[in-house]
Amino acid sequence: MTEPGLSADSPFFCTPPLRTALRPSNESPMPTFAPEQPARGFRHASVLLDGAVEGLVHDPQGAYLDGTFGRGGHSRAILARLTSQGRLLAIDRDPQAVAEAAAIDDPRFFIEQGEFANLGEIVDRHGLYGRLAGVLLDVGVSSPQLDDPQRGFSFLRDGPLDMRMDPTRGESAADFLARANEGELAAVFKAYGEERFARRLARAIVARRPERPFARTADLAEVVKAAHPAWEKGKHPATRVFQALRIQVNGELQQLDAALEAALEALAPGGHLVVISFHSLEDRRVKRFIRDHVRGDTDLPRGMPIRDDQLKRRLASLGKARRPSAEEIQENPRARSAVMRMARKQY
Ligand SMILES: C[S@@+](CC[C@H](N)C(=O)[O-])C[C@H]1O[C@@H](n2cnc3c(N)ncnc32)[C@H](O)[C@@H]1O
Repeated sequence: MTEPGLSADSPFFCTPPLRTALRPSNESPMPTFAPEQPARGFRHASVLLDGAVEGLVHDPQGAYLDGTFGRGGHSRAILARLTSQGRLLAIDRDPQAVAEAAAIDDPRFFIEQGEFANLGEIVDRHGLYGRLAGVLLDVGVSSPQLDDPQRGFSFLRDGPLDMRMDPTRGESAADFLARANEGELAAVFKAYGEERFARRLARAIVARRPERPFARTADLAEVVKAAHPAWEKGKHPATRVFQALRIQVNGELQQLDAALEAALEALAPGGHLVVISFHSLEDRRVKRFIRDHVRGDTDLPRGMPIRDDQLKRRLASLGKARRPSAEEIQENPRARSAVMRMARKQY
């Protein structure tokens, strides 16, 4: 059985890290690679690595933002394409991810712990607001977050029911399950997990709560499994509930909306926006955001003849949505639901 974006037996490979040194200016990008041991044995295989970085880096001297550092696979590949004038600012809300970034010893690279909601402020602090050549968002959770039972994302590996990407702040999944009423739980399971039996599962959770609060992932998975009337083939019956809780706890959709808005403002005209998402709830938002800004808008009343420049088209689409190849999915089954969309800022 698999978790959302997770295959228990899939092989994961770490992108080789780039160790860069100061190079004379105007040279062509020349990365050097060295083997790396990922911290605590948890690895992340970057999805759509080459396509994303190719689409992002159109100016090797530019300043870029990797809004989702994770384990730095994309960041390292971006740095490999930049000259010594290039800059890369990375952000991640997960303190473990930020700690991993210490392995990148490169004067062109900066990392900040923070979330999408503060993206504009962080970029501004680095003097890059409105000046970025590109923004990459590879949204969702990383493999180390999913694989480490202590992070509480997994229904396959027992651990504390946490699910926060930044465990130092906000409400854990256990806290939410302890305080939400049946209606709130059902609404979350339905909206964020697209769970058909949301109400029934919420009722089972509320009925069990007085006996013992939910504190462990395996306990919640068992209660949901027992209450679920229609198991889907090849899918753990708690899959949708776990996805829903993760999205709720991390405010993932609200964060994505904030990131898209902030990224558009933080880009320089001509800058590229690249977004990789892993489920349809996210991809729908990305697609709509790009489509709306490609179509443009006008304050003029309907029916009035308008010139193209009055339409305020802030983005131009850079091709169709792209998905990983069959080979990439075979190598990394977690890539299977990924969708990448790219656009260029017009003004
Ligand atoms: C799919 S992983 C990125 C993997 C990365 N591209 C790589 O190659 O290693 C997503 C990362 O984004 C971070 N993240 C997700 N939502 C975030 C948010 N709202 N603000 C900041 N970071 C976020 C997660 O903590 C996670 O480390």
